[in-house]
Amino acid sequence: MKERIVSGMRPTGKLHIGHYLGVIQNWVELQKKYDSFFFAADWHALTTKYDKTETLKSDVIDVVTDWLAAGIDPEISTIYVQSLVPEIAELNIYLSMVTPQNWVERDPTLKDMAKILRTKEGANSQVSYGLLGYPVLMSSDILMFNADAVPVGIDQVAHIEITRDIARRFNNIYKTEFFHEAKPLLNNCSLICGLDGNKMGKSYGNDIKISDTEETTTKKIMTAVTDASRMRKDDPGHPDECRVAYKYWEIFADDEQINTVRCECEKGLRGCADCKRMLAAVVNEHFAQIREKRLYYETHIDEVKDIICQGSKRARTEAAKTIEKIREIIGMYS
Ligand code: TRP
Ligand code: SF4
Repeated sequence: MKERIVSGMRPTGKLHIGHYLGVIQNWVELQKKYDSFFFAADWHALTTKYDKTETLKSDVIDVVTDWLAAGIDPEISTIYVQSLVPEIAELNIYLSMVTPQNWVERDPTLKDMAKILRTKEGANSQVSYGLLGYPVLMSSDILMFNADAVPVGIDQVAHIEITRDIARRFNNIYKTEFFHEAKPLLNNCSLICGLDGNKMGKSYGNDIKISDTEETTTKKIMTAVTDASRMRKDDPGHPDECRVAYKYWEIFADDEQINTVRCECEKGLRGCADCKRMLAAVVNEHFAQIREKRLYYETHIDEVKDIICQGSKRARTEAAKTIEKIREIIGMYS
């Protein structure tokens, strides 16, 4: 039997190429080897945006469309929406009972989220009971399907640790070996920065979307930060000081191309504008197929909705079996 992985993303709308390189590309590879469950974590979105739900539905569709375009295959992976599997909420209740209060209070990622919330929304923004439960809900996502591994970024590892602790505690309390201790599966790809050299993020306006057109992509790349000490295009450049454009070359081009860029830059044979125009062509080439596939799904939204519906049904069938066993283990009335 294949090992199982579970991973989710909060639906934040159309994804950028950082999501693609950092997360989705990894999922696409992993789905060949693992029994894979990928979901839109819409309850997790509510932990901070419970009052901004206008775009929640379309955000769910947008992320799933990007996954499909990138190559997540609904024939081999289970794609679903968290809130369409209410068994997860039931499991969340049971896990909440066995989780000591200080385990969630000391969660470092949660502390960061609370800090961001306070700076963004002002002093009167409250950390809700639901936000405090973030790691427990995440544990419910993972344990609902008894995952063996969870592919995540480094920022989520603390949550996986709590999940393992909760699984162990549940097993101890109820004298069972039911829950597996899922291990984090870190991917080793380098992080792509935003066009301004900061972390790529939707809210920073420095991202390139998977769904951007070639024209938009080119326009955006032309704004990428380069070697700031360069005044004229025949000045010798310093690729290592070129904080964005050269970094992108390293991500998207092969060794030979990268070498050419470096040599021509250092000798002052290539101006930054030309260099970025060529870079844009390489990036566009990289995403051409994915974007074509995305356009297909955009014009066949019913297919996307159908995939979500079928996947959620499949996930729910699986979850219902598990919740039955868990109720029995705990000793719930049935
Ligand atoms: N917290 C994760 C994030 O922000 C999303 C998530 C929710 C998740 N539940 C999960 C990831 C379960 C992996 C497994 O990226
Ligand atoms: Fe960067 Fe290219 Fe300009 Fe060199 S020529 S500084 S690599 S953008």
